[in-house]
Amino acid sequence: MLKDLVNRSLGLPKGSKLLIFGGGFSGQHVAALIRAQGGNVVCTRREIKKPGADCVFNSLTKEIPSKYFLKNATHILSCIPPDPNGGDPVLMNLMEELQDLPLQWVGYLSTTGVYGDTKGKWVSEEDPPNPTQPRSKRRLNCEKAWQSSGLPVQIIRLPGIYGPGRSALTAIKSGKGRIIDKPGQVFSRIHVDDIAGALLHLINLANQGEKPKIINFADNMPTANKEVQSFAAELLGIPMPPIEQFELASQNMSPMALSFWQENRRISNKMLCEVLKYKLIHPDYRSGLKDCLMNYK
Ligand SMILES: NC(=O)c1ccc[n+]([C@@H]2O[C@H](COP(=O)([O-])OP(=O)(O)OC[C@H]3O[C@@H](n4cnc5c(N)ncnc54)[C@H](OP(=O)(O)O)[C@@H]3O)[C@@H](O)[C@H]2O)c1
Repeated sequence: MLKDLVNRSLGLPKGSKLLIFGGGFSGQHVAALIRAQGGNVVCTRREIKKPGADCVFNSLTKEIPSKYFLKNATHILSCIPPDPNGGDPVLMNLMEELQDLPLQWVGYLSTTGVYGDTKGKWVSEEDPPNPTQPRSKRRLNCEKAWQSSGLPVQIIRLPGIYGPGRSALTAIKSGKGRIIDKPGQVFSRIHVDDIAGALLHLINLANQGEKPKIINFADNMPTANKEVQSFAAELLGIPMPPIEQFELASQNMSPMALSFWQENRRISNKMLCEVLKYKLIHPDYRSGLKDCLMNYK
C-alpha cells in the first residue's frame, strides 16, 4: 500500500531528479512513491493523455521528451521492453541526450527469463544467462546494450510482476483465471510495492558506493500456479475453478502462455535481501494477494 511504502522507504537522494521511461504498471508505481515523498520525478508514456504521463516518449512515432524534461536528470529508470528486433527503444532514440546528463544511476528493468530453463533449480545473479525464448534473447541483447552504454547502469531482473489491478484476483474474478496443475512447476514473482521499495533501496545504496551490476528481485517463495490461484479464489470467497492438468490445458493455450510453462526456475533473492539487506514488504504470494484484496480495483 502506498502509505506504508512511503513511510518505510528512503526518498531519492537530495538534489536528485528521476526520469522514468515507460510509466506503465511498475513505472507508475515508482513515480507515485517518489511523488508522495515530494521527490522530483518525470515519467514518460506513449501518449500524453495516459495517467501519470509528464511527457511523451514513443519509439514508434519517434516522439522524444524535450530538453525541459531531460534537463538535470541524475537518475534514470527504463521500464520499456525491447523492440521486435531486440533493440532497446530508449538507447536507440536517446543515447546522445543521455550521455549529456549528469547521471549517477541508471536502472534497467529486465526479466529473469534471460536465465532460461533451470528445471526448477534455484538461480542467482552468478549464473550465466541462457535464454531459450526469442523474447528473452532480445532482452539479453538490451541488457548488453545498456551495459556497454558507458552509463552507470544496474540491471534489475524481474520475475512475474503482480499488484493491485494485476493479480490472480483479477483473473479469478473475471472468470479467466485457470487453475493448472503441472507437477514440479513453480513460478517466482514480485509484488509491485517491492519493486518500488527495492529500487529506492538500490538508488540509496548506489549513492553510498554499493552497486552490484545485476540484481534479481523476487519474493521468498516460488510457488505453483495451482496454489496461488486457489488462494485467490479463497480470498474472494468464490468457488475455485476446476483444476486442469497441464497436458490437457496446454492444448488450448496461446503460444505466449505456453512459453511461460516451458521454463521452470526458482529465482534467488539472496543478493537483494541478504547481501544488500532489503526487507521485503510481501515475502510471499499470500501477503501480496491480501494486499491486492485490500486495494482491489
Ligand atoms: N509483467 C511482468 O510480469 C514482467 C516480468 C518481468 C519483466 N517485465 C518487464 O519489466 C518492465 C516493466 O514491466 P511492467 O509490467 O511494469 O511494464 P508495462 O506495464 O507493460 O509498461 C511498459 C512501459 O513501456 C512503454 N512502452 C512500450 N513500448 C514502448 C515504445 N515503443 N516506446 C516508448 N514506450 C514504450 C509503455 O508505454 P505506455 O505507458 O504508453 O503503455 C509502458 O509505459 C518491462 O520491460 C517488462 O517487459 C515484466
